Amino acid sequence: MNKPSLAQTAKAQLISRILGKKNSATAPPPAAIGQPRAAARVPDRYTRFDKHPGYEKMLVSKAASERFGLDNPFFHVHEGRAGATTQIDGRTYINFASYNYLGLAGHPAVDQAAKDAVDRYGTTVSASRLVAGERPLHRALEQALADVYQVEDCVVFVSGHATNVSTIGYLFGPKDLILHDSLIHNSVLMGAQLSGATRRSFAHNDLQALDALLRDIRGQYERVLIVVEGIYSMDGDMANLPALIDIKQRHQAFLMVDEAHALGVLGARGHGLHEHFGIDGQQVDIWMGTLSKTLSGCGGYIAGSRALVQHLKYAAPGFVYSVGMAPPLAAASLAALELMQQEPQRVAQLRARGKFFLQQAQAAGLNTGLAAGYSILPIILGSSLKAVRLSNQLFAHGVNVQPIIHPAVEEQAARLRFFLSSEHTEAQIVETVGLLRQLA
Ligand SMILES: Cc1ncc(COP(=O)(O)O)c(C=O)c1O
Repeated sequence: MNKPSLAQTAKAQLISRILGKKNSATAPPPAAIGQPRAAARVPDRYTRFDKHPGYEKMLVSKAASERFGLDNPFFHVHEGRAGATTQIDGRTYINFASYNYLGLAGHPAVDQAAKDAVDRYGTTVSASRLVAGERPLHRALEQALADVYQVEDCVVFVSGHATNVSTIGYLFGPKDLILHDSLIHNSVLMGAQLSGATRRSFAHNDLQALDALLRDIRGQYERVLIVVEGIYSMDGDMANLPALIDIKQRHQAFLMVDEAHALGVLGARGHGLHEHFGIDGQQVDIWMGTLSKTLSGCGGYIAGSRALVQHLKYAAPGFVYSVGMAPPLAAASLAALELMQQEPQRVAQLRARGKFFLQQAQAAGLNTGLAAGYSILPIILGSSLKAVRLSNQLFAHGVNVQPIIHPAVEEQAARLRFFLSSEHTEAQIVETVGLLRQLA
């Protein structure tokens, strides 16, 4: 053990003289120099994961579910590909719990592309593309996505969630302002938090409120980012792109659109929100999307100007310090994108099914919230308990749909959320709505 230095000893003597004078009746003798004091007891919640307050809260919810006799509706094990139907525990279910919007996950051409990529490149690129290099599939996928948005370039990340976290977290900082729709996805919130920018939300799709907020506070910040979703993941309605472009131009802000649920769904060819409104993709500064839904893979992308994309490729931590996309996943998404372009009837079919489900549900008197009749349809139940119970009852009747409960949404907004696929049949929808009418 190191001996205390002279300066340390002198300092300790001085402190003990002062303490002795001030507190001579009550003060404990000062610790010998260099000897650790007995550690104060640290509460268990700081030293044990089983005492973490978040975990304890989870256990309380679990115990309450068990008391109500509810089965856990989460983490079902699917025994094959999940599409409009799925196999769980040997039984076939009508499935509304996967994002296989255009039925391309499990399509023979998509699977074959992934297999060919494994044969040629293996299962991984092992390291960051920046240092370890890339494969032709990476650039082919990025170019195809840039073309969808009519923009200069695109970069793919290995996770959709990380795409938002890393892009927003890297590009913006403490002198900036991030304004987002109140129903924006968690990944945007995490990115905004990481950036250190001021974050403000505006009421869902209330663009007058957004405009007013910008009028009041735009001048206090350097960069301003407005973030919305093409189709909202919990509610199934969409953003008003023309009005957003007008606002962002007037206030000199950047506009970012998360197309996770809009690619493959909106527009005649499934190109998303800009195609739906007939707007040039270059009017939006940052297009973001995921490869896990319509594109049957895993990962996310940012499409926009060359400067934006080049910058992210050399600096965004989630790209620079993370492995490049696995070749079979890049190949699968590229093949799915090509099929989406070649077979627009899939997009039309999905939209027809979405509209049909909405009409049937409304005719049955169910509360479909803000659903616009596309790929996502909520049935609002107003209580987490009701949502879990109804999900379990439907499961018992051969329908797999997930409950969305607090804290993912407000308690009074607890719901079942149906994801539609172009592969669902009208008969499956009629059967499901019939069960909802009977059980809800
Ligand atoms: C709107 C939105 N953005 C981003 C993500 C994250 O994408 P991924 O699940 O591919 O990581 C999701 C996921 O569902 C989403 O709904």
